[in-house]
Amino acid sequence: MFTRLTRVAYNRSVRFYSTEPTLKERLLQIIPAKVEQVKQLKTDHGDKIIGTCTVAQAYGGMRSVKSLVTETSSLDPEEGIRFRGLTIKECQERLPKATGGAEPLPESILWLLLTGEVPTDGQVKQLSKDLAARAGLPKFVVDMIKAFPKEMHPMSQLGAAVLALQTGSKFTEQYQGGMKKDQYWAATLEDSLDLIAKLPEVAALIYRNTYKDGKVNHKVDPNLDWSANFNRMLGYESKEFDELMRLYLTIHTDHEGGNVSAHTTHLVGSALSDPYLSFTAGMCGLAGPLHGLANQEVLTWTLNLQKRIKQDGVNEVSNERLAELIWEGLNAGRVVPGFGHAVLRKTDPRYTCQREFALKHLPQDPLFKLVSQIYEVVPDVLTKHGKTKNPFPNVDAHSGCLLTHYGFNEHNFYTVLFGVSRAIGVLSSLVWDRALGHPIERPKSVTTEWIANFVKSDSK
Ligand SMILES: CC(C)(COP(=O)(O)OP(=O)(O)OC[C@H]1O[C@@H](n2cnc3c(N)ncnc32)[C@H](O)[C@@H]1OP(=O)(O)O)[C@@H](O)C(=O)NCCC(=O)NCCS
Repeated sequence: MFTRLTRVAYNRSVRFYSTEPTLKERLLQIIPAKVEQVKQLKTDHGDKIIGTCTVAQAYGGMRSVKSLVTETSSLDPEEGIRFRGLTIKECQERLPKATGGAEPLPESILWLLLTGEVPTDGQVKQLSKDLAARAGLPKFVVDMIKAFPKEMHPMSQLGAAVLALQTGSKFTEQYQGGMKKDQYWAATLEDSLDLIAKLPEVAALIYRNTYKDGKVNHKVDPNLDWSANFNRMLGYESKEFDELMRLYLTIHTDHEGGNVSAHTTHLVGSALSDPYLSFTAGMCGLAGPLHGLANQEVLTWTLNLQKRIKQDGVNEVSNERLAELIWEGLNAGRVVPGFGHAVLRKTDPRYTCQREFALKHLPQDPLFKLVSQIYEVVPDVLTKHGKTKNPFPNVDAHSGCLLTHYGFNEHNFYTVLFGVSRAIGVLSSLVWDRALGHPIERPKSVTTEWIANFVKSDSK
């Protein structure tokens, strides 16, 4: 019977037969042409200038300096993110979904980011099963997470746990065995898929140990998708919450290459540090309040605002009073969390799709109503405040309100969910970094004295 099949995919504990190329087979087909294209571009146009850097940019976090190549996604200041050319709406329409579901499966965006192609339902099922087969943690990692103090921030626990998993790195093992350079990407893919498969259990164990009974009461089921397995491990059974998490874990994957978590993973990876080391470094960046931690801060800030409104003796607040309360924080020197962005200049489409989810599933939720009212009021306030280049909300302004609706109230944990999703984007990029043979990153730095002398001689 199998002789008629063009290919047979076989994954350790699962036997899954298909006529379609597996993820690795498809990459094997795609990579050589891309390697050739890049080689040709470097040979023919290596001297072409694609960007410059001003003094203001050198001091200003290198905003808009074009000096990185990232294949997986691109970010337009007005339009927002495109994953391999697809907007979020197009991803929602075109990527495979769970049976009866409306949101893309994160496995399908993993395929899209790695290959640049929309996978078939069969390819996504195959990938779900592959990830399920790779799941499972070494006992010492489980014991280690259980031994962490509850006061340790979940992001610190995540970083430490992923570093401990590095003992299983196939890249490191094969590198030490003299692996050839053209095999780096395949070993990186193996580690990346292993890590993506294991992260839900790591995250769930951190969650259950920090806030619940310390036990993960679900064994990964190969017939469930990656998000649903994750939810069951966390302790959530609702089908609607499964849909939310599929959306959440899809839209947080990637935001081109210059953001802190993506750039850090790429930078550390450029030293040929394996995916576990590189991803941990990226997660340390995601844990910062100006990056991923903002979603935790948004919810704390919104709930405090809700308390203040209740102190006024009302359930619903006028836009004028809301603006006054927001000004109080700004005048005290605090930022409005969830608003502004280093690149975007319009409402983040990741915000908009979460708002659409809320309008569909929880339109009467009181916190959602407040979040909507904040959306009406804050852009105007921030415009009058006159500092930020973008007064509109980003992805973090909405996620907490959705999670809270389904009883997920542990704000300190939110950035871990972001991190589990971000693994899909930054590790896909790392595979391509290796496939294209990107060298160790080493930009040139200069001193203020150098700049002072340079501008003096330049103005003569
Ligand atoms: C995202 C963020 C870090 C981008 O920073 P940036 O690229 O430096 O943004 P801008 O160039 O617009 O900042 C210019 C000024 O506006 C201020 N500003 C930016 N966003 C602001 C906000 N939401 N509330 C108040 N002030 C803000 C900055 O602090 C800066 O002030 P300074 O000159 O006194 O240092 C910033 O908008 C911010 O801190 N937002 C809140 C945190 C957040 O939501 N982070 C998640 C990002 S996805």
